[in-house]
Amino acid sequence: MKILGLETSCDETGLAIYDDTLNDGKGGVLAQVLYSQIELHATYGGVVPELASRDHIRKLVPLFHELLNKANINKSDIDAVAYTKGPGLIGALMTGALFGRTLAFGLGVPAIGVHHMEGHLLAPVMTGDGVEFPFVCLLVSGGHTMLVRADGVGQYTVLGESIDDAAGECFDKAAKMLNLPYPGGPNVAKLAETGNRHAYELPRPMLHKGLDFSFSGMKTAVHNLIKDTPNADSDPVVRADIAASFEYAVVDTLVKKCVKALKQTGLKRLVIAGGVSANRSLRQSLEHELNKIHAVVHYAPPELCTDNGAMIAYAGYCRLKAGQADGLSVACVPRWDMQSLKIA
Ligand code: KG4
Ligand code: ZN
Repeated sequence: MKILGLETSCDETGLAIYDDTLNDGKGGVLAQVLYSQIELHATYGGVVPELASRDHIRKLVPLFHELLNKANINKSDIDAVAYTKGPGLIGALMTGALFGRTLAFGLGVPAIGVHHMEGHLLAPVMTGDGVEFPFVCLLVSGGHTMLVRADGVGQYTVLGESIDDAAGECFDKAAKMLNLPYPGGPNVAKLAETGNRHAYELPRPMLHKGLDFSFSGMKTAVHNLIKDTPNADSDPVVRADIAASFEYAVVDTLVKKCVKALKQTGLKRLVIAGGVSANRSLRQSLEHELNKIHAVVHYAPPELCTDNGAMIAYAGYCRLKAGQADGLSVACVPRWDMQSLKIA
């Protein structure tokens, strides 16, 4: 079975074919293409929703042909279409949903709308590496920071989430304050590599308050640190130290909450997913801390942590296999509770 996955919830146009016959029937990604709108939005320092929608429309058809070429298949070989139905920017979501729904109708195959965060959550499951349910998942992206207990596909219990900014958003804002280009996460991480993470003390928000997160205070703390530190805008050593101290504060907060969630649930398996799960320091700290409590952490390769079409194809595949498919109407949902995803 070959499933086309379409991701257009924000600023990446991602298309992929997931094929369950690959790798001796274990399944795998036959081909994928990804177009990032980073350059388009960089001038504005963040995503401009209307520009994002227009660019998805421009790119979807040529990328689809490129994908078919790469996979060496015809469109008639596609058995089903999965597209991101939410959460995300409504205009951007609509482009992929309408393209996908229409294509599926033309081909006479099923179509299914997928929850973007379920796509992220299932990406490390798709890439193998022995990830089995149940597990605790830390979902850390540009728009979400959540701890979820996953007992199976669609069986999600939210254990905690950010009451304000997401971790990725916090990285992006800190990057802006450090005059680093958009998107901030990878650039802050790069600058932090040569810095001393103990150089400056930054807060660990809500550490002792359950499993929720808050990152908006961190923004103010970084702003004040930059304002009060001489040469914060010019001295490369000072800048690297600020980036490293900031990254450590976010990572340390995430790690401590993950350990707490594992202890609370009694589970020994943690999965991290979403753009921030590509962060090397987060991965290393989790490996170190989880080792102490005899737990393990799983993550996808970096290119499958950030937005991509393969994770949507795979989430769609899991749902179709469970007997789900959507009707002909297209209804995208900018906000969508993960706990409502139960498969009947
Ligand atoms: O999952 P994603 O690609 O898109 C959303 O669903 O939001 O996540 C994007 C977020 C951005 O905030 C980006 O700065 C952050 O993930 N990110 C990182 C890294 N790579 C991407 N943050 C920290 N370190 C990284 N290496
Ligand atoms: Zn995402």
